[in-house]
Amino acid sequence: MVKVALAKGRLAEKAMAILEKAGVDCSCVDQSSRKLVFTSDDGKWQFILVKPTDVPTYVYHGITDIGVVGKDTLLEENLPMYEMADLGFGKCRLCIAGKVEDMGKPVRVVATKYPNIAKRFYYSRGENVEIVKLSGSVELGPLVGLSDVILDIVESGGTLRANGMDVFEEVCQVSARLVVNQVSLKTKSDEIKTLVNNVQSVLKEGNPK
Ligand code: PRP
Repeated sequence: MVKVALAKGRLAEKAMAILEKAGVDCSCVDQSSRKLVFTSDDGKWQFILVKPTDVPTYVYHGITDIGVVGKDTLLEENLPMYEMADLGFGKCRLCIAGKVEDMGKPVRVVATKYPNIAKRFYYSRGENVEIVKLSGSVELGPLVGLSDVILDIVESGGTLRANGMDVFEEVCQVSARLVVNQVSLKTKSDEIKTLVNNVQSVLKEGNPK
């Protein structure tokens, strides 16, 4: 049996669309139920639905063999595991952003859901900033005076525009990745390598949007 951790929500639907095409029977997964563990009829696959930020934790500890998760979460959690494929959906940018009128001003405080990425980004440039961790609606930081800027995901840019803010700098581009536990790649080598090859073929043929 190969165990799979999926990030609940839209990412899971897109991940399953690719996995199905790659020969993984995901038909047992019902996101509308309150169930959290699903096993395929043939017993070959088990799926758990977890919060996106917890996917690396389950894969790293070997609770699941593989996972599908955003590159932003991988960078933030920074746990050792193999990143086997860029699945091409969930594309967005990690950016430094702030109020339009503050562009170019010195940064002392950064609000973010990604404190580890923010630390690495600023400290690698020798800039000693204070990082304030938030869990959501990060754009509020500069608006209410909690921080000078934010480090956050920008997809359409709509949230920034609606709040009189703009991108100051791009940190990196992100998208959904297929990750594999380091031990599982040895112990379940055949199943996982076949799956990764199939996923790569599906991606070459054209990614379901
Ligand atoms: C994310 C992100 C931004 C927004 C960016 O928040 O933190 O707030 O989406 O998307 P946009 O560029 O298309 O406007 P999310 O919707 O996940 O909610 P949250 O603020 O509660 O984390």
